[in-house]
Amino acid sequence: MKIENVEVIGVVGAGTMGHGIAQTCIKTGFAVYLIDVDRDILEKALGLIRDGPFGLMKLVERGKLNMNQVNEIMKRIKTTTDYDEFSKKVDVVIEAVPENPELKKKIFRLLDEKCPEKTVFASNTSGILITELATTVKRKDRFVGMHWFNPAPVMPLIEVVRGSLTSDETFNLTFELSKKLGKTPIEAKDGPGFYTTRFITAYLYEAIRLFEAGLAEINDIDEMTKLAFRHPQGPFELMDLIGLDTMLHIGEYIYSLTREPQYKPPLTLRKLVLSGYIGDPRFKPGSRGGCRDYFKVVNP
Ligand SMILES: NC(=O)c1ccc[n+]([C@@H]2O[C@H](COP(=O)([O-])OP(=O)(O)OC[C@H]3O[C@@H](n4cnc5c(N)ncnc54)[C@H](O)[C@@H]3O)[C@@H](O)[C@H]2O)c1
Repeated sequence: MKIENVEVIGVVGAGTMGHGIAQTCIKTGFAVYLIDVDRDILEKALGLIRDGPFGLMKLVERGKLNMNQVNEIMKRIKTTTDYDEFSKKVDVVIEAVPENPELKKKIFRLLDEKCPEKTVFASNTSGILITELATTVKRKDRFVGMHWFNPAPVMPLIEVVRGSLTSDETFNLTFELSKKLGKTPIEAKDGPGFYTTRFITAYLYEAIRLFEAGLAEINDIDEMTKLAFRHPQGPFELMDLIGLDTMLHIGEYIYSLTREPQYKPPLTLRKLVLSGYIGDPRFKPGSRGGCRDYFKVVNP
């Protein structure tokens, strides 16, 4: 497929990443079809796209968009819970369901049956091998990794990942599409965690290990990181934004393939997730809270 032929982008999953990806696509002129498992999640996603912490209304406040433009942009998105309806219309699919290989494979198998031949499949996985996800579809040449960053409307990078059988045409299309979406694409190799996730996982887990070892408090680790390295957020703030469940699943996958100790999920992270503390509820609907909230409860 050529970039000129991409009109409708299908986004699968309307959570933290999916709603931000959808927002970026409609803002840059594409039509979007957004699918999730229930209407409530889709309604929440539409609310976040318009009024959320990184939503379109923030651009109105900053004088970068006017209300007419917001209304026009919002007209470009449609939502559904029906895969039959969704699959008929999409030129490119960007999948953003939870970081669970079996779930992603099940969805791609279904999409492969239902979508037109020409439709290109991209996964926003943080680090599952693209070659592994592509085993589930016939169109292995039209399957690619498109790894966005959180918050999707704001962060400039897209890691584009070529699976073993991704064609040049698909890879180039994804590069061009990323640019049209206002992002900077860079190629990353197909290894568990690609480049950025390997890096961030080792870094964030190390912050948890420092805390587990009693070497520093959570607030101090965040503050020291910001002041010492000029990071905009500390590691615990960042984990609450990314989602602690996502951070756990990513480490489990990278560790399962590499057995390198820096990717082994710390026990504290597992306990947070098992207790329902999966991040900042503003970004993770249904979460009881983030790291600090958890420690107020278990270690007041
Ligand atoms: N959170 C981050 O910072 C971040 C950054 C980059 C990439 N990622 C990757 O993006 C993907 C999504 O992560 P997230 O943080 O947005 O997760 P999330 O849990 O916030 O959202 C996932 C969404 O997928 C939906 N979903 C589940 N099953 C579905 C199905 N069968 N059909 C349609 N929708 C379904 C869920 O209802 C949910 O709304 C993961 O692969 C993650 O590793 C996450």
